[in-house]
Amino acid sequence: MTTSYPVPSVVLSVGGSLLNDGKPNAEMAKKLASAIQSAGVPCGIVCGGGQQARKRAQSARKKTGSEFEADLAGIKITYKNADALREALGPEAGSKVFKDFKHAKKAATSQKYIIMGGTIPGITTDADSALLAESLGAKRLVNVSNTAIYDSDPKTNQSAKKFDQMTYAQLISLAQKSDARMAGTHFVFDLLACSLIARSKIETHFIDGRDAGQLKAAILGEPHNGTVVRE
Ligand code: UTP
Repeated sequence: MTTSYPVPSVVLSVGGSLLNDGKPNAEMAKKLASAIQSAGVPCGIVCGGGQQARKRAQSARKKTGSEFEADLAGIKITYKNADALREALGPEAGSKVFKDFKHAKKAATSQKYIIMGGTIPGITTDADSALLAESLGAKRLVNVSNTAIYDSDPKTNQSAKKFDQMTYAQLISLAQKSDARMAGTHFVFDLLACSLIARSKIETHFIDGRDAGQLKAAILGEPHNGTVVRE
């Protein structure tokens, strides 16, 4: 008899910065997998590219002069990272990384974890995670990186203040400001992803995924030390 699972009510956007520090980080994939498994619920999971994606995109850009090709090179690395996490999660994560939302949704009741990387050029895995949440009807998203949301960059401003909670409008305004303030760097969650969670009212949690307890709490919608974004 085949097992049937409820469609995931939570989607994770796992930052490439955690998963890849020049190559897929198997140790971190194992750590994340065990924290995800400890929550015990089905999850949609989108993996980012990280350092290696940026490097590969840069060499594709140099070689082809095409941003489209650069993005495709970045997407390839997201698949590698996603595959490492899929393996760490074991049989409940199925036998492949999904490359589009339609197939991901179709598999949602036949495996506990639905793993994706990037999808099309021009966007990021933050937006992919918001789109996967919309596609599955999931009302909670967890951004698994190494930071909560602050009113300014805590790396450069020692008095930066962390938000425990904020609204979609506040997040969008911060993402817009941050875009203008720091050309060449990027905000924790990109602007398209911010707009998507706002339009579908997806409650979004920003946590430090290196802490297993924080990750488990956010997956379950329990209190944690990060930031919760809702209406
Ligand atoms: P990421 O979403 O990881 O980009 O995808 P990022 O902004 O570098 O985020 P972090 O720092 O890793 O968390 C890596 C690259 O893959 C391409 C883009 O070039 C992106 O920068 N990509 C990703 C796409 O073109 N489309 C997608 O759907 C996803």
